[in-house]
Amino acid sequence: MDKITINTLFAKKANEKIVMLTAYDALFARLFDDIVDMILVGDSLNMSFGGNDETISLSLEAMIYHACAVKKAVKHAYLVVDMPFGSCVSVDLALKNAIKVYQKTGCDAIKIEGGAEFAPIITALNNAGISVMSHIGLKPQYSRQMGGFKVQGINNAQALLDDAKILEDAGAKMLLVEGTIAQVATQITQNSNLPVIGIGSGANTDGQVLVWSDMLGFFENFKPKFVKQFLNGADLVRQSVNEYAKQVRSGEFPSSQHEYKFQG
Ligand code: KIV
Repeated sequence: MDKITINTLFAKKANEKIVMLTAYDALFARLFDDIVDMILVGDSLNMSFGGNDETISLSLEAMIYHACAVKKAVKHAYLVVDMPFGSCVSVDLALKNAIKVYQKTGCDAIKIEGGAEFAPIITALNNAGISVMSHIGLKPQYSRQMGGFKVQGINNAQALLDDAKILEDAGAKMLLVEGTIAQVATQITQNSNLPVIGIGSGANTDGQVLVWSDMLGFFENFKPKFVKQFLNGADLVRQSVNEYAKQVRSGEFPSSQHEYKFQG
């Protein structure tokens, strides 16, 4: 299977939907790699894996650790790594941290949450040879400042359209639009030359991304309206662990077939 590149993604924009999924480790990344087009090592791992209420406390080192694990299993999909909160707040800091992530993880691109105010940073990274996916709309890294996880595009549709255009002009290679009214996300996609991936932003973006632990039913703390659960993972795991516990307690496991024996 050919490796997906930025050129593949631009070609798909006009012709077919782009499928993106998060992964946080090699085990699951290996399962997803030849099925999806793009894998995102998202900072959502701080919530589903880290057990935190927000993404804000994730460190750069933790992100690099997870991204390196994912990279070992990814041979086909285009690999994007999230830049954690605070890691790209000036041109100098963004260059230092993004170069570190790019070199250590071997990813294809990084993702930065932020609108037009990040344009100079996107230009500097692009000039340094690093492809950037800009993340606009609902930006979880700003949830504390914004008073929660709020749907976007109700009162700020024009600002979002402006963000998308300014970031494209600044050198962004892809856009991710999160938690945005579907009509606004549609307009952003139609006005943009970039591949636009949506999450909770309707059906008309160029592609979709979901958090793997949401779509496979492992994350039970809350379920956003936009998530479709394709597996009841948590229930399946619980059933199997209950069965394991029952068999250990009853002596049914391990049986003789699971023992090492002297040969001959
Ligand atoms: O961190 C994440 O998983 C994200 C989602 C939008 C997919 O950024």
